[in-house]
Amino acid sequence: MTLFINCCPRGESRTEKLARALLKALGEYEELRLYDEPLHSLGRADIAKRDALLAEKKYDDEMFRYARQFAAADRIVIAAPLWDLSFPAQLKVYLENIYVTGIVTKYSEAGKPVGLCRASELYYVTTSGGPFDGRFGYDYWKTIAQDCFGIPTVKLLEAENLDIVGADAEKIVDDAIKAYGPA
Ligand SMILES: Cc1cc2nc3c(=O)[nH]c(=O)nc-3n(C[C@H](O)[C@H](O)[C@H](O)COP(=O)(O)O)c2cc1C
Repeated sequence: MTLFINCCPRGESRTEKLARALLKALGEYEELRLYDEPLHSLGRADIAKRDALLAEKKYDDEMFRYARQFAAADRIVIAAPLWDLSFPAQLKVYLENIYVTGIVTKYSEAGKPVGLCRASELYYVTTSGGPFDGRFGYDYWKTIAQDCFGIPTVKLLEAENLDIVGADAEKIVDDAIKAYGPA
C-alpha cells in the first residue's frame, strides 16, 4: 500500500493537486494529513520516554505508530511546498517522530545506518513560488530515504515559478502533470 504523507496546509494547495494527479496513476493509497495529526516536536520528556522504550526494545509502543506505518508502506508519496528553501516545519516534526532506530533504520557494526523500510520508492512532490531549489528539501529527503531508511529509488515531481508576476500557475501545474506522463 502507498502511504501519502500530505504536508500541504493551504486549502487550494497546488502541491496537493500535483500529488493527487500522481496518486491517481499509482492506485490505492492511505493518506496521512500531517496538519490533522497530534504531532509535536520531540521535547525533553519525549526523548527520555523514547530512550527508555528503545532500551527495552518496546517497538510496539503507541509512540512509534508513525514509524511503524512508514516502515511498512510499499511506497511513499510526500507532498510539501517549498518553504524557506526547505519544507514546512510540520514535515520535520513528522520526521523526528518516525526516525526511530530499530524500526526505520538500524546501525551496522561499523556504525553506518542500514535502512529497515519496506518501500522500494519514494516520490517527493513539491511546488515553489520562484525557481525550484532542491538543496534543503528534496535533496535532504533523498539522502535520508536512501542512506538511512533503505528506500532505493527517490523521484521528484515539481512545478516551479508559480508566484512570479504574470505566471499562469494553473497551467504550470497542469503541464507538470502532463510531463510526468502516467499521471
Ligand atoms: C511560509 C512560506 C515560505 C515560502 N518560501 C518559499 C521559498 O523559499 N522559495 C520559493 O520559491 N517559494 C516560497 N514560497 C512560495 C511557495 O513555495 C509557493 O507558493 C507554493 O506553490 C505553495 O504551495 P501550495 O500551493 O501547495 O501551498 C513560500 C510560501 C510560504 C507560505
